[in-house]
Amino acid sequence: MRDKGLSRKEVLAELRKFWAQDLRYEDGRILCSMCTDPHRVAKTAHSLFSSSNLGDSGLFLGSLRLEKEVIQKLAALLNGKGSVGFIVSGGTEANLLALLAARNMANVSNPEVVLPESAHFSFTKICDLMGLKAVYASLDSAYRVVPSSVESCITKNTVAVVGTAGTAELGAVDPIDKLSEIALDRGVYLHVDAAFGGLIIPFLRDIGYTTADFDFRLEGVKSITVDPHKMGMTTIPAGGILFRNDTFLDYIKTATPYLTEERQYTFVGTRPGASAAATWTVFEHLGREGFRNTIRRCMRLTKFLSSKLEALGFKLVSQPTLNIVAFKGSDSKLLSEKLRQRGWFASYIPRFDCIRIVVMPHLRKLHLMAFLKDLSEIARANATNAAF
Ligand SMILES: Cc1ncc(COP(=O)(O)O)c(C=O)c1O
Repeated sequence: MRDKGLSRKEVLAELRKFWAQDLRYEDGRILCSMCTDPHRVAKTAHSLFSSSNLGDSGLFLGSLRLEKEVIQKLAALLNGKGSVGFIVSGGTEANLLALLAARNMANVSNPEVVLPESAHFSFTKICDLMGLKAVYASLDSAYRVVPSSVESCITKNTVAVVGTAGTAELGAVDPIDKLSEIALDRGVYLHVDAAFGGLIIPFLRDIGYTTADFDFRLEGVKSITVDPHKMGMTTIPAGGILFRNDTFLDYIKTATPYLTEERQYTFVGTRPGASAAATWTVFEHLGREGFRNTIRRCMRLTKFLSSKLEALGFKLVSQPTLNIVAFKGSDSKLLSEKLRQRGWFASYIPRFDCIRIVVMPHLRKLHLMAFLKDLSEIARANATNAAF
């Protein structure tokens, strides 16, 4: 640290140099992120509540109320009548709290968790941290977990089964209704990782798409991860964990000897009230109508992009269920490198040897058209799609 500080003007000028090195969502070059530019009202709310600490919530009662209201809104969206939960640092922490509750409830000496092969990598960290053995169930041709494979993975040591509503790589939605039946039948905890899909699927239904149940309407579902900092268009960090009811909280609580609250239920101690405030503000400002409109637009763009890719001779890995498009050329890795050289940030996914684009709210048709133009030029020059 320097001995004598810079003036406000000087330091902000220095800071802007760093800021200039970051990509901007609005430039339409970020095609790989599950986050997006937060809504303007979220940024305002975030800065208003920048000093608030929900880890000592007795000091920040307004923030605490905001968090409770956000959780109630999420619970209503996910058909959870008596649901309780928290705004946490992200999907990773939300998934961790769910498995912590499941493991502590089951209280077995060699705990195992049954995960789809498509489960988010956060579960790898969580299993490592919590000493859980991960047992992987296989996927069908649409990359959804196969219920009979899940069932055959369950043993006396299984503390939880996980299903995903909107996988990070392909946006696939597992058959949660079947997993719920299995979980009830075998007396196992079912957690749904809807970090991405949880703020899309309920609105897809509203705009006429057929979607299968994935939420607390299904009796076997005990907890759901749903992240406002993804499709909720709020500021980072804002993950969400919801439990079916408050009995699960007993298994994740920690006594807090010196704070204004007697116990905490989250992994992170000091946590931003700004996250709850920003999320509440976006929800109140957009309402269901605003979410419907945003998701309708993302899905239309998803359809536009996937049909143009097919017309160019690329092969879709699967038909998009949500706003994620994954496609293959004859050399997808080379293609992704060439795209990067032209300033396009799309993901290359080795497991499927494909390129993946998440059609987030910051993307416009003109961005996708510019992308498709560059893509077809690269493919022509390098023979990296099936057609050339
Ligand atoms: C399905 C799913 N689960 C969990 C996570 C982890 O969320 P986070 O990065 O907010 O911790 C992600 C992140 O993209 C995700 O897509």
